[in-house]
Order: sequence, then C-alpha cells, then structure tokens
Amino acid sequence: MATILDGKLVRDAILASLKPRIERLTAERRPPGLAVVMVGSNPASEIYVRNKVKACAELGIAGEKHLPLDTVTTEELLFLVEALNRRPDIDGILIQLPLPEHIDQQQVLASIDPSKDVDGFHPCSVGDLVANRPGFRACTPAGVMRLLEYYGIPIAGKDAVVVGRSDIVGKPMAFLLLHAHATVTICHSKTANLAEQCRRADILIAAMGRPAFLTADFIKPGAVVVDVGINRLRTPEQVDRVFPGDPQRLAELEEKGSVIVGDVHPEAFSQASFYTPVPGGVGPLTIAMLMSNTVDSAERRLGIRGSS
Ligand code: GUN
Repeated sequence: MATILDGKLVRDAILASLKPRIERLTAERRPPGLAVVMVGSNPASEIYVRNKVKACAELGIAGEKHLPLDTVTTEELLFLVEALNRRPDIDGILIQLPLPEHIDQQQVLASIDPSKDVDGFHPCSVGDLVANRPGFRACTPAGVMRLLEYYGIPIAGKDAVVVGRSDIVGKPMAFLLLHAHATVTICHSKTANLAEQCRRADILIAAMGRPAFLTADFIKPGAVVVDVGINRLRTPEQVDRVFPGDPQRLAELEEKGSVIVGDVHPEAFSQASFYTPVPGGVGPLTIAMLMSNTVDSAERRLGIRGSS
C-alpha cells in the first residue's frame, strides 16, 4: 500500500513553528510585511493571491495586495516595485506570475530588492540556489523538500527525475535535489523515451502541467512520487478519460465546473511507496513556504534572530 504524503499536515507544522516568531517580531518591533502584486485578472492567479493574503491575515503577517490593471506598462510596474523596495515595513515582494505578454517579466523580477525576494525568482536568488549559497528558495520546490524531510525520505544517492523545466518549479526543484545529493535528471516535452527515464526514478517529481499524463508504466514500483501538477478537467469527456465511469467525479464537475487532477494518473499512485495526492499534497506547502520566507526576511532585516 502506498503511503500518502500529507501536505496539509506539514503545512500546519510549518505554520505552527512560524507563529511564535511572528509574535516576537510583532511584540519587539513590528509584524512582518508582504506585498503581493497581481496585474490584471486571471482566475487562477486571483485564487492564489486571495489565499496568500488570507494566510498572512491568519498568521499576523501584514499582507497587502496591489492590483494594477492589465493596461499597466513595464515602467509603471517598475515604479511600483521601487516604491515597495523603499518601504521599511515591507519585508517581502511577490509578483504573481504569469504577467501579461507586453510586460518585461525579467526586468520586473530583477527590479525587486533581492533582500525582499521571498518568491526566489530574482537573478541573485537563482544564483544563490545554483551555487548552494544561503538565500530565498522558490516556494513550491522548497515545500517539496520540506515534505520529503518531514516523512524522512532519503534523498542522497537516489535517482531523482524531474519532469518539467519551468523556472518556477522544474529547474529550482532539480537544484534542490542535487544539493541534497540525489542524481538528478531533468525531463521535458522533447525528452526521448520519457517513460523509460521516469521508470529509473526512485524519486519522481511531476511538474509539466499535463493532466494525468504519467501513467503506471512511467513509475518504478516503490518509487516516491511527488505530483506538483494542478490541472482542471472542464468537460464530461475529459473527466471520463481520467476517471472512467465515475459518477461522483461527473457530479463534482456539474457542481464546481471543473475537476482537479495532477500530472500523475490517479491509478498510477498504486505503484508508489509514497505519493502526494492532488489536491492536498504539494499545493498547501507553497503558501506555507512563502510565509516562512517572509518571516525569515523580516528577522534578517530587523536583526532579530529566529528560533529556527
Ligand atoms: N504563479 C504560479 N506559481 C507561482 C508562484 O509560486 N509564485 C508566483 N509569483 N507566481 C506564481
């Protein structure tokens, strides 16, 4: 029987450990401050941003939203980031991605003060990651590492395969596993013999954003399978392809307008020793790690030594 890696459990442990640190910062100086910037309206981003600001409120972090219209120019966005860089009460700045096409994303991310780069996307943070120097790590891959650590899953000497090469998940994930002494392979849409590559994996990270793509034949029996994908099935045909003859899922589609599935086919998890469910696996950890990075930043900027 495969064991579930419960992201909510680990999220709760992370958030509980942050509470006393936030209380101390607030009592001695001020609450940590996080600014979240979202340009325009994108339904998925809106949910993420709402949840990020809600998590701040629940923990006692001063979270604020900045919502420029999608007609904003790169220059105007740079002006906003500069203003946030200068504010002493802001410890973290997050630019929700993706940005509209007409915005120079690289320039905007590079304009963030690296000491406030709680998302880990600034070129300085990326360099710190690659060189294995201390610095902010991208939240989702950092959350995956916490999950593996919490469950005592050994990484050193293991074959890890990361499917997906995004700047947000795939690449940072590969470096974190490499620094934990795994032998890492990065696969992507042009990889030859993808199933064969995946079957070599003791630790398989699925992060390519293709619904239920990795089927049982991609998974080595006994592998640890981490599914970072969050995909929405929106038609009865799509639902039936992944969950054939499942009236509960069709009812869910009717009620909610979509059914969420990861990059790993639900039936494939039976091959694994440990696996993350979707939803409830990796998802809850991204925000927990954002909160953790924000508290780390506040402590560093205020010269208060953290308890961790
Ligand atoms: N869009 C999807 N995931 C993320 C993330 O982790 N951070 C930001 N800023 N944007 C995202």
